[in-house]
Amino acid sequence: MKMIILAGGSGTRLHPLTKGTSKQLLPIFNKPMIYYPLSTAMLAGSREILIINTPYEQDCFKRLLGDGSQFGISITYAVQPKPEGLAQAFLIAEDCGFLQENEPCGLILGDNIFYCSNFREKLKFASREASWIVKNDKLDGRATIFGIEVKDPWRYGIVEIDKDKQAISIEEKPKEPKSNICVTGLYFYPHDILDKAKAVKPSARGELEITSINQMYLEEKRLSVELLARGDVWLDTGTFDSLSEASSFVEAIEKRSGKMICCPEEIGYLNGWLSEEQLNDIGISMSKNEYGQYILDLIK
Ligand code: G1P
Repeated sequence: MKMIILAGGSGTRLHPLTKGTSKQLLPIFNKPMIYYPLSTAMLAGSREILIINTPYEQDCFKRLLGDGSQFGISITYAVQPKPEGLAQAFLIAEDCGFLQENEPCGLILGDNIFYCSNFREKLKFASREASWIVKNDKLDGRATIFGIEVKDPWRYGIVEIDKDKQAISIEEKPKEPKSNICVTGLYFYPHDILDKAKAVKPSARGELEITSINQMYLEEKRLSVELLARGDVWLDTGTFDSLSEASSFVEAIEKRSGKMICCPEEIGYLNGWLSEEQLNDIGISMSKNEYGQYILDLIK
């Protein structure tokens, strides 16, 4: 399934760090931040990825990620001139020719870091649910959002679920949250996502809210909530503290386990999209550092 990574925004909350560069290019321990959502999209099985950035920063992303062939995927780029809401990503994807009418599509925010058990299975399941299915002679498919409990629910989109984990309400940054289950920045949508995105009206804060899209699927009883478990980790990197904590978290886990979190080259190889020879060439090109050594060790 096609996936969009939204990596726009002015990152003002992290100035001066993000005055000269994009937030999603900042390091999280040993990788640029965008490697993490990119890895999530690849774990979901997506090989066609659109990255949306501001007009000023696109060249830096292109220098870093190119056409994606070094990861065994295809990356295209589009620009979001002004941050006017997450739902705008789908309209941009249509304008640039990435997404057609009647096509399912996923979205992940460029600063979202996930480290969860059985994540690949959960992602694949969500992707399958959203994919083309014909039911009663009609195209069908379900949307999936990923929820996780947080202690500051008023900062996020919040979903309320019943005992069967079905969504019963969803609200954007509620003053009086009905639950503490936050809607993370990872979404899978079925074939009618473009119709829904086009129907969204700007909110009170002037944005095309992703919550409005989720609300439409909820009303049609086509919204699934994949509730991440206790112990699963979802990090946001919007403040100096959370940025530094994310780096420390990745460093601690990687050093203890000897396994990298969100190494796109490794995922491309495990997915069968890169050959041993290709991986070897990439490893050699970075063999003077631990990242390159790790890649070379994968094929020892
Ligand atoms: C956005 C979404 C919100 C979601 C959050 C996850 O918030 O609108 O529903 O919970 O991402 O990070 P924003 O970044 O626009 O404040």
